[in-house]
Amino acid sequence: MTISFERGALHIDDVPLSAVARAAGTPLYVYDGSGVRARHAALVRAFDGLRPGIRYAIKANSNGALLRLLHELGAGFDLVSRGELERALRTGADPADFVFAGVGKQDDEIRAALRHGVGLLNVESDSELRRIQEIAQELDLPARVAIRLNPDVDARTHAYISTGKKENKFGVDFVTADAMLRSIAADPRVQLVAYHVHLGSLLLEPRPYLEALRLVLQWVDAEPRRGEGVLAYDMGGGFGIRGAFEDPLDVDELAAGMRELLQPRGWRILLEPGRFLVGNAGLLLTRVLHVKHGAEKDFAVVDAAMTELIRPALYAAEHEIVCVEDRPGFAPRPVDIVGPVCESADFLGQGRRLPVLGRGDLLAVLTTGAYGASMGSRYNSRPLAGEVLVDRGRVRWIRQPEPLEELWRFECDEELDLASGAARAGTADAGDRE
Ligand code: LLP
Repeated sequence: MTISFERGALHIDDVPLSAVARAAGTPLYVYDGSGVRARHAALVRAFDGLRPGIRYAIKANSNGALLRLLHELGAGFDLVSRGELERALRTGADPADFVFAGVGKQDDEIRAALRHGVGLLNVESDSELRRIQEIAQELDLPARVAIRLNPDVDARTHAYISTGKKENKFGVDFVTADAMLRSIAADPRVQLVAYHVHLGSLLLEPRPYLEALRLVLQWVDAEPRRGEGVLAYDMGGGFGIRGAFEDPLDVDELAAGMRELLQPRGWRILLEPGRFLVGNAGLLLTRVLHVKHGAEKDFAVVDAAMTELIRPALYAAEHEIVCVEDRPGFAPRPVDIVGPVCESADFLGQGRRLPVLGRGDLLAVLTTGAYGASMGSRYNSRPLAGEVLVDRGRVRWIRQPEPLEELWRFECDEELDLASGAARAGTADAGDRE
């Protein structure tokens, strides 16, 4: 990775982050383009021999500059909403390289996916399959689908980001999948081309992936028609990372296991990594506003908050926090790094060992390229933070800090026409009538 400490200061490539913060202000997300390139290359290399199709999970970080970079590297996209579809299309990528996932696809989303020729719709329920069939018929367009199987495998990750257990809302069990197969077989427009499994996020060992694939193959092999027409296995995403300077999930070991199981049947592999590609390639810069000495502990109040990074509050996630300009020694007491938002859950880190901090000190919250900016909110009327990309010798804004006016831009005071029943574009009802 190209985020490093050199001469006591944090850099991306040879750009000191203190200079970036001075020029752009804080809070600020900064991304490392070569980190993304390196991770992408590692995946392609690892899965060599399985014709890997990388479908970057846009939800991890949806900034257009990163999407374009990944498109240039040859990645397709994993999307879950109309907004993500539009973002993916804006890169100029071929929709045949998109997979559309999600348990609640709306009619307008299914229509748009079919019209654009999205390569794969990952179907999450029999009810959703029926809706896809109806819309394909109405538009007289083909639909290429994968059934998302829920193999009831424990990914041993945080309960909120586990998706492959039977108590999770995702995918279908094998019995339901059989009924869906019968319905697909009788439908000339719908073609089953893959099976999909996504077990959850932040998996740190290959075992659950291999266990899930074994269960799927056992089921497929028990009945020949289950494998008819199938060309690919979409193994989902979830490839875990630890910290900015530690090794992530061993993708070479994972790929070797997958290769052994998949190569004999000639299926290609699709992958939906989000965090693995961008997580360690991003950091959040924030400045200390005040240091408070409490009775029990010290607090450093900084200008970033749960509005920029909700992961500590939501999942008890621990992100390493470092001084951008290193100082020797540690303060005598551990410190909580907290934001200005009026919630006790508004912390970026608790009980951290850091040097003595003072007003104006610059901190970096590491490993925040994924599910940082993309989960940002405007709570407490805080506009979204800016984003900067350091790549190939250039330092560029890729999203301006939001101007305050954005906060009330869509507020209005107008009569609602109850009689017309015409919902606004973008809502579910509007989609039904499109
Ligand atoms: N594919 C599907 C169907 C998904 O639902 C997800 C993530 C991914 C791929 C990408 O997963 P990744 O490779 O990034 O782990 N907000 C949480 C993570 C939620 C993940 C949701 N689905 C967090 O901050 O940890």
